[in-house]
Amino acid sequence: MAKIIAIASQKGGVGKTTTAVNLAAAVARMKRRVLLVDIDPQGNATSGFGIDKNMLMSTIYRVLIEGRSVSDAIVSSEHRVDVLPANVELAGAEVELAGMERRETRLRDALTSVSNNYDYIFIDCPPSLGFLTLNALAAAHAVLIPIQCEFYALEGVAQLMNTISLVQESVNPSLIVQGVVMTMYDGRTRIATQVVDEVKNVFGAALYETLIPRNVRLSEAPSFGQPITSYDITSRGAESYIELAREVMKREEG
Ligand SMILES: Nc1ncnc2c1ncn2[C@@H]1O[C@H](COP(=O)(O)OP(=O)(O)OP(=O)(O)O)[C@@H](O)[C@H]1O
Ligand SMILES: [Mg+2]
Repeated sequence: MAKIIAIASQKGGVGKTTTAVNLAAAVARMKRRVLLVDIDPQGNATSGFGIDKNMLMSTIYRVLIEGRSVSDAIVSSEHRVDVLPANVELAGAEVELAGMERRETRLRDALTSVSNNYDYIFIDCPPSLGFLTLNALAAAHAVLIPIQCEFYALEGVAQLMNTISLVQESVNPSLIVQGVVMTMYDGRTRIATQVVDEVKNVFGAALYETLIPRNVRLSEAPSFGQPITSYDITSRGAESYIELAREVMKREEG
């Protein structure tokens, strides 16, 4: 059975998708079978793997709302990672899910049919705590929280932790916070080191040692439809996500 890890934060632009895409690719390089589930209507993880959002036969929307088969929707990327893609049609799902039965566990139910085909399933969440993120948290056995190294870094984290607690108390008692990763770190600034200290005080050992640096190659790669390990394996960005992949796999596999 796959280890299912949701990459979540209701804060926008903190590096969820960058982490989902590049961690998935880095883990796949280490000979693990990886599926990336895009559950964000923006579809950035889908395009980040070079998949054309306008040319999809099926999408996660069809799976969640129409009950279509997951394996029909999965697309193989050229980067050793399979993708369950999303596009803008998923934007309607938030409202549609609200009126449906099993509205929080539809993704979990859907993934059971493919779970044996993968070692890891990563889920890239949208920047909200609505039903799409709830579906990810219900399906996952662990959450990975990216936190951007900036002044208001911890703002909103309490709300996220509260949502995780509610999910633990209801649909997913075994959900754990697998780890917290600092993104867009710039060691030359005092604020960055202060924020890391602050996050360490709150999360302790859950904070990964790997700090993801602010790296221009990481921001360029999506426009080429490539994870950083394909776009520029020699970049600091690639190095850091490979290091993070090692840490994540160590926590999962021992
Ligand atoms: N380590 C980094 N170095 C440089 N740029 C980065 C880094 N991480 C992310 N970015 C850039 O910051 C922006 C936001 O990142 P990303 O899309 O991964 O965040 P997100 O949390 O998924 O956003 P959203 O909440 O909209 O889904 C993107 O333009 C991305 O290229
Ligand atoms: Mg995103």
